[in-house]
Amino acid sequence: MAIEIRQIGPCFAGEVEGLDMTKPLSSDNADAIHAGMDEYAVLTIREQPMTPEQQMAFTLSLGEIEPASRASLRDESDYRLPSTFQDVSNLDKDNKPMERYDRRRLFAIGNRLWHSDSSFKKIPAKYSLLHAISIPSKGGDTEFADMRAAYDALDEETKQEVEGLVCEHSQIFSRQQCGFFDLTEEERERFAPARQTLVRTHPVTGRKSLYLASHAGGIIDWPVPEARLFLRDLIEHATQRQFVYAHKWRVGDLVIWDNRQVMHRARSFPVDEPRDMRRTTLAGDGPTVADKAA
Ligand code: OGA
Ligand code: MN
Repeated sequence: MAIEIRQIGPCFAGEVEGLDMTKPLSSDNADAIHAGMDEYAVLTIREQPMTPEQQMAFTLSLGEIEPASRASLRDESDYRLPSTFQDVSNLDKDNKPMERYDRRRLFAIGNRLWHSDSSFKKIPAKYSLLHAISIPSKGGDTEFADMRAAYDALDEETKQEVEGLVCEHSQIFSRQQCGFFDLTEEERERFAPARQTLVRTHPVTGRKSLYLASHAGGIIDWPVPEARLFLRDLIEHATQRQFVYAHKWRVGDLVIWDNRQVMHRARSFPVDEPRDMRRTTLAGDGPTVADKAA
């Protein structure tokens, strides 16, 4: 069956209908999803229960998975899911919500700051696919900001100013913003910054977007305070209501977003309630900044 994609109200995101996630994705439907992603940058697929194997099979039919890496403070011995998944839940290995002061939780809730996944890696992520297994009684939305519209809405002078700028991204910088400094030497080394251009051009549509994230903690050749304040202004601009789609989760939803074209953030929810969210991630094509050493 062919899928249909329609825009969600006045928001930029699209909703996919007519997909059965328990069946392999046909190549026509895979093409339609890619075309939908190029156009809408965020696609939702409502209320489709699926196993981790089905989520992985669906992800692989859209491209190559991002190499597994430890981007959280969970030990590998704590993992509830295969290492090819990002466990975005608030649950420990026994499926219990982590304690309020658990440092793994305090690090993880940094995703309540606007960000783009893996912008702190040399080759940042293409799509993220997030599936809801259980959701809290209130809160816990995920919001998405359209960075193409945000770019388009800049005045000419700012467009010129951002062109060619390169930022340094690290989870150390985003966690500093929420007052989390409690990292070991090993963690600091693991979270060493990566460089990203501030403006990206989409390889298919040719549209430009601002490539921002709370992980961005500096601009090359700029004083740090000036860079941080400039980046803060840009994020404030880019996340005005008219650029934002808020996803209210239902159990079984899958949301796919293009990290090259949107930022996202999680919203808070009651600390003692389980929220089980599982992410698979597609690898990006390459670095956004040419490697001078190469
Ligand atoms: C993610 C993420 C937000 C959420 O999966 O990368 O930031 O609402 N998730 O859980
Ligand atoms: Mn994220």
